[in-house]
Amino acid sequence: MLLTQSSWMEVEDYLQRSTSILVPIGSIEQHGPNGLLGTDAICPQVIAEHAQGLTDMLVGPTFSVGCAQHHLGFAGTITLRPSTMIASMLDWTASLQRHGFERIYWLNGHGGNVATINAAFAESYAARSFATTPSRLELLHKLQNWWQFEQVMSLCKQLYPVGDGQHATASEVAVTYAAYPQAQKNVSMQPKIAPTGSITHAEDYRRQFPDGRIGSDPSQAKVEDGEQIIQRAAEAVAADFERFARS
Ligand code: NI
Repeated sequence: MLLTQSSWMEVEDYLQRSTSILVPIGSIEQHGPNGLLGTDAICPQVIAEHAQGLTDMLVGPTFSVGCAQHHLGFAGTITLRPSTMIASMLDWTASLQRHGFERIYWLNGHGGNVATINAAFAESYAARSFATTPSRLELLHKLQNWWQFEQVMSLCKQLYPVGDGQHATASEVAVTYAAYPQAQKNVSMQPKIAPTGSITHAEDYRRQFPDGRIGSDPSQAKVEDGEQIIQRAAEAVAADFERFARS
């Protein structure tokens, strides 16, 4: 069930049977010469959309802009400051709590969001702990990176044994191509596999990684591979969400 395509009455009915919701969370940032700027938002969103067909799950709107300051040297990247992202996540949380949601499962598509998401959880729990009148409702957050399920990692390793990489990976590009086949881009990579290194600020990033990729050869990405990854990840998310909702 998708929140953006439901009526308020349908959400109210859902709350009678479950107080758990999944929120895809991503980023709008460059993904190399053939990757889409929306990659990190598209991946968790399509996986969640698939997963909600496998179990009783409400999928919220995608929190699509995250922390991507290090990608600002490339056109089209949009970022929040960590402090803005925390404030925004707290407002999403407060809105959902207002309706009775107690468990929020954040399905993440961007490694650069992890520290800030965890900081937002800490703020959220602190606000609850400081409250002089404790809420009768439970509050539980979970962060899950879509690519970090064991069964997803093993599939990506099998599909792309060489050059899956760290950023603009072949597997995430394949997922977006499966979602939007018309957006595929045929680009030859120079060098074939991008360099690796650590990340600081925007100028440094562009100097070290001139075409935006880190350690990857995303020209390997194929629609059929993306379809397999979506299926595998959706099954893992559906099972994990069921466990979370029962916890
Ligand atoms: Ni990405």
